[in-house]
Amino acid sequence: MDSFLIHGGHRLKGTIEVSGSKNSALPILAACLMAEGKSTLKGVPRLLDIDSMSKLLGELGCHVYRHEPADPGTLVGPALNGPLDIQVQDETQCEARYEIVKTMRASICVLGPLLGKRGKAIVSMPGGCAIGDRPVDLHVRGLQKLGAHFRMENGNIVGEVRGRLKGCRMYLGGALGPTVLGTINVMCAAALADGETILVGAACEPEVSDCADMLIKMGARIKGHGTPEIRIEGVEKLVGAEHRVIPDRIECGTFMIAAAITNGELALKHCALDHLIAVTDRLDEVGVQTQRENGTVYVTAARRINPVEMTTQPYPGFPTDLQAQLMALLCLSDGISVVTERIFPDRFLHVGELNRMGARIRKEGPTAIIQGVRELQGANVMASDLRASAALVLAALVAKGATRIDRVYHIDRGYEKIEQKLAAVGAQIERIKEGKTSLSMSAVA
Ligand code: EPU
Repeated sequence: MDSFLIHGGHRLKGTIEVSGSKNSALPILAACLMAEGKSTLKGVPRLLDIDSMSKLLGELGCHVYRHEPADPGTLVGPALNGPLDIQVQDETQCEARYEIVKTMRASICVLGPLLGKRGKAIVSMPGGCAIGDRPVDLHVRGLQKLGAHFRMENGNIVGEVRGRLKGCRMYLGGALGPTVLGTINVMCAAALADGETILVGAACEPEVSDCADMLIKMGARIKGHGTPEIRIEGVEKLVGAEHRVIPDRIECGTFMIAAAITNGELALKHCALDHLIAVTDRLDEVGVQTQRENGTVYVTAARRINPVEMTTQPYPGFPTDLQAQLMALLCLSDGISVVTERIFPDRFLHVGELNRMGARIRKEGPTAIIQGVRELQGANVMASDLRASAALVLAALVAKGATRIDRVYHIDRGYEKIEQKLAAVGAQIERIKEGKTSLSMSAVA
């Protein structure tokens, strides 16, 4: 497994291109299972999770083909990504196997499209992961209300539809609020159901809206996406369409924090600042300025980092996917910050690793109390999940000395070429391939 070796203390300065959204691309790829004819997706990042979804679609009878750019040269980021074509060739396969689901929970996204189009789905039950239990009961309940029948069989969720799904009005929220992928699964299935479906308590995340926009291009009749009430009038068939996925708001927020933590200055291209309003609100209070000019966002930070209180919430609130990264920044604040996690109350694996780097964080239930320190120190740390790993990279960028982060495959799941993007703006970051040692490795404590 690869590692990163990062020498901290370098101010980041320059321009970074934000990639297309992983969490938009994954369910949109799954939605292509419902289309007749070829779909073309632009801006899909090159990531391990996208490879896993492409493999899964391949097993489900799709031909998935990535166009290469004419002259890749030294391009980094989205410009390097040719469009992705998806064409369904065989509709007989309906199974998402454990071997794929265990590497990527987002495999659950095929459940709704398979039931809506093929009338059958076998999806290995996703287990818990580093950020918590991650149940899928709301997905199943929503699809049941449309008329699908479910049973558990040898660790698999087996869903079947007798005849055609039938639209209805339903409440989709759960104890911890709305569900993003659950909303998308039910919305996809409802797009091919008989009659009207009204989803009350739907997730409002931009990724849900992006998927709805693609479905509409495919011929679906959807209104109200982006609000808690989505109306879907079922249609007989969907056809292939072309779509560009939205920019990755979590990658963008991570780079904003990278600018802030290194007291740097970054220009972020392809940044959907409107999707980050709660993030810029918190960053503003911390002392980080963001300014938009012609589609590029300029991020500059004050030397002093103010402590803040922050609670993660469903969109448009502060996203859970940036909680760990903000916490890395708050470790260096001038006072005490309080961070509460309301979406995944156990998503705190980064706390122990940040403390190994000299942070002073105390966890109390779903809340972390962060006493700012003057500096972080380099150490050997372990990546545990995607966003926790990003927090460790951020901490390492400013830590005194060298930090080695092991198991960076977590970060490769969701950040496209992060080490190249950071190195291009002045970070000293190096990928150490499994089994190889770096010349500078001896510098690590
Ligand atoms: N929940 C249930 N039952 C369900 C589904 C969800 O109780 O059937 C609970 C969850 O346990 C959680 C809350 O509802 O407490 C919200 O979870 P949600 O279903 O919205 O999460 P998700 O759709 O599985 C997506 C992203 C996550 C992101 C969350 C929240 C993708 C592929 N994943 O997951 O992204 O944290 O929404 O915004 O889109 C990441 O990219 O690192 C990541 C984990």
